[in-house]
Amino acid sequence: MKLNHLISIKDIGKKEVLKILEESEKMENLLHSKKAVKIMDGKILATLFYEPSTRTRLSFETAMKRLGGAVIGFTDIKNTSVMKGETLGDTIRVISDYADIIAIRHPYEGSARLASEYATVPIINAGDGSNQHPTQTLLDLYTIKREVGKIDGINIAFIGDLKYGRTVHSLCHALSLFNNIKITFISPEELRIPKEIISDLEKNNTEFCEKGHIDLKGIDVVYMTRIQKERFPDLNEYQRVRGTYKLTLKHVENKNLIIMHPLPRVDEIDPRVDNLPQAKYFKQSFYGVPVRMAILKILLEN
Ligand code: NCD
Repeated sequence: MKLNHLISIKDIGKKEVLKILEESEKMENLLHSKKAVKIMDGKILATLFYEPSTRTRLSFETAMKRLGGAVIGFTDIKNTSVMKGETLGDTIRVISDYADIIAIRHPYEGSARLASEYATVPIINAGDGSNQHPTQTLLDLYTIKREVGKIDGINIAFIGDLKYGRTVHSLCHALSLFNNIKITFISPEELRIPKEIISDLEKNNTEFCEKGHIDLKGIDVVYMTRIQKERFPDLNEYQRVRGTYKLTLKHVENKNLIIMHPLPRVDEIDPRVDNLPQAKYFKQSFYGVPVRMAILKILLEN
């Protein structure tokens, strides 16, 4: 499989997605076997995080270290030459000479694509503004496959901030590559799923509907999201929609479904839901490690 960068989930087809999921399963077995692995011996991953992150950055670092590689990077641009006015292009040129692969998270849409134009090593988009988060999508698909047993034919409800949530945007596109998917979008009017995503679904004949209230009849996967406070141009608007939805025991108890969330959560899931067997969000964040191991391996194999 030839993959130079991983910038948008739209750059890869179903065949590639399935290959990454298959490789992720091998990586998960490897992790459970606790064997020391040296696949990435002598290789360096650079994590350039211009935006906050816990899971994405640390699971990338864990993935690289579990494979026997090393990690460099920054988590706060205040300590970098960005503060002196260095451009993204220059930073990427320099880091390309230090590391074998770069994972970048940046607040601007299109920044990872721009980085790939300057890089001489593979670039992985770890989130660019409200646009895309392809590695999260792959771990989301992996979670669905492992916990539901299949991806084709699922009935999934996305709840919350569907306007600014990049994990939703990426995952919708990936799901549209599979068969007989049904999507229910549940959001306040102000945070409806963007038109571009809808046209993408229409193009691929993926069935969807939009609702304003939580209704989980016939749903296999509930995908909760955080209202993305940092993306609102007007904080008053955020105040109006915050806390609109809260998933409680009464929504999900005794239902045959799984609950996912890319995390971090704020107040959209009642903590009592955590103890239900349906709650898979912490397992989902663990799956980030084997999936990112697979992504690193595939990108560095080229
Ligand atoms: C998500 C993100 O950064 O887009 N988090 C993550 O990577 N797991 C979701 C969020 O911040 O709400």
